Amino acid sequence: MSIINVESVTKKFIGVTALSKVSIDIKENKIFGLIGPNGSGKTTLLNVINGFLKPEEGQVKIKGKNTIGLKPHEIARMGVGRTFQFPRVFSKLSVESNILVSNPSLENTKKLNELLQMFDLMAVKNRLASDLGYGQKKMLELARAMATDAWILLLDEPLGGLDSKSIEKMLNCIKDINEQYGKVILVVEHNLDQLFSIADYVYVLHGGKKVEEGTPREIKSSKILHDVYFRGF
Ligand SMILES: Nc1ncnc2c1ncn2[C@@H]1O[C@H](COP(=O)(O)OP(=O)(O)O)[C@@H](O)[C@H]1O
Ligand SMILES: [Mg+2]
Repeated sequence: MSIINVESVTKKFIGVTALSKVSIDIKENKIFGLIGPNGSGKTTLLNVINGFLKPEEGQVKIKGKNTIGLKPHEIARMGVGRTFQFPRVFSKLSVESNILVSNPSLENTKKLNELLQMFDLMAVKNRLASDLGYGQKKMLELARAMATDAWILLLDEPLGGLDSKSIEKMLNCIKDINEQYGKVILVVEHNLDQLFSIADYVYVLHGGKKVEEGTPREIKSSKILHDVYFRGF
């Protein structure tokens, strides 16, 4: 069943068409990948889905409800969680408090400990978020998204800027979030091999247009992917 349906969305900025008639369909239980070179419209598409940006044309339906015009917090309340290309955490709060801001009812609960454990943050739970390394900040951001009752997470380049050990850890966390917690994931990623290792289905953007879609196996052998990444198209 389709749970997020983006249909023919166009988003323009002055001088740039960031998205041009883009359609994607997100179904239950799966990990969806969104790839494309820098500037191809990936972040803009996440911003349209979660209500940061209003497109000039097209429709977004979340669980059948038209969400164009709703505010980001209204869309978040519908169960759509989000992380950012550059992690956003509250620097002056402790790691634990950062998670509790997302969901105060978790205070002193098993679930809070479970999240700290899952994202490898237990040992630093009382430290200020500003003391964390970049990879830990990304983990904390994901823990904050998981603390809400979101059923889908939109992840913008979760592996960006991480060293190889943190990448491994992050990939495992993303898989767990999908497999153990049943969350749907739409993940933007630059590193194709790593994305292909976790995604069930992939959309390719280029110059604001959707140029290909399919399973990782199909995408890997796609001529268009090769053109987009290696020949400049
Ligand atoms: N707020 C904005 N104002 C003007 N142009 C923007 C804005 N956000 C994105 N763009 C432009 O839209 C295009 C797509 O950007 P973006 O969605 O960030 O790409 P990606 O995430 O794939 O790297 C780029 O040309 C970018 O410069
Ligand atoms: Mg981006």
